[in-house]
Amino acid sequence: ATEKTYEYLKVSTPRTGVALIQLHRPKALNALFTPLIRELNTTLRELDSDPSVGATVLTGSEKAFAAGADILEMRDKSFADAYGNDFIESWSELYNTIRKPVISAVNGHALGGGCELAMMCDILYCSQKANFGQPEIKLGVIPGAGGSQRLTRAIGKSRAMELILTGKNFSGQEAYDWGLAARVFETPEKCVEGALDTAETIAGYSKIAVKACKEVVNKSQDLGIKEGVEFERRVFHGLFGSEDQKIGMEAFAEKKKPEWTHR
Ligand code: CAA
Repeated sequence: ATEKTYEYLKVSTPRTGVALIQLHRPKALNALFTPLIRELNTTLRELDSDPSVGATVLTGSEKAFAAGADILEMRDKSFADAYGNDFIESWSELYNTIRKPVISAVNGHALGGGCELAMMCDILYCSQKANFGQPEIKLGVIPGAGGSQRLTRAIGKSRAMELILTGKNFSGQEAYDWGLAARVFETPEKCVEGALDTAETIAGYSKIAVKACKEVVNKSQDLGIKEGVEFERRVFHGLFGSEDQKIGMEAFAEKKKPEWTHR
């Protein structure tokens, strides 16, 4: 992945098993538009099928994770354009099709679609001064990439309603205090390093078990508790058919480090 050239991304492998994708459209504070999303989706799909990669960190710059959907691209869209081409649907590929964990490291602005993209990731980390918000109301529209659903589930209806109706921003510290972010860091560098550390830990486990963990936790968002627990148990049972279950448990019994086969 390191050799390729990207127009709107920087992609590297800073740690064993860990890919780092940096959104890179500095002139527009990483505003999200079709060519960038296309490049992001292609890259995520490649990483998902790359056996050397176990987890990915998605970040922006110190100034902006992403300042939202590109308003200039949207300005002249008609209803027929938006509905007919299912505008923004492809942005959900990160959530809908990517099966390895993606951690967002949010610094600077994460507004509108930027906040939504961060929330699509499996774990959200941020720095204290990150600037989150769903300001769509100020543009005469509403969140369109899952913000009304994901923010509400993460921080509760009353707070989400207030933020979405007023378009008021909130800080990284607030995101952490309210449970949207799993961790908050003092500085942008520490935030990215912290996300890489976590990604490295995850990349050190059995890829089969990691995928299964992600799948069952995500299922909890769609199923009732009874169905969710049943689903979890079925996936748990399925793992007894993997080599890594034997490897992991034998290593424990023999007080050794497991050597995963990812099968
Ligand atoms: N779309 C297009 N261009 C954007 C952009 C966006 N969302 N956000 C920033 N830019 C561009 C600016 O137009 C500007 O370009 P020029 O230099 O060519 O004028 C450049 O990025 C730098 O921005 P500013 O000069 O505005 O920088 P600032 O530091 O003064 O302000 C900001 C930063 C508060 C983030 C401000 O840029 C801003 O309010 N941006 C828009 C935020 C927003 O409303 N996002 C939601 C979009 S709607 C959406 O996302 C729908 C959805 O649900 C998917």
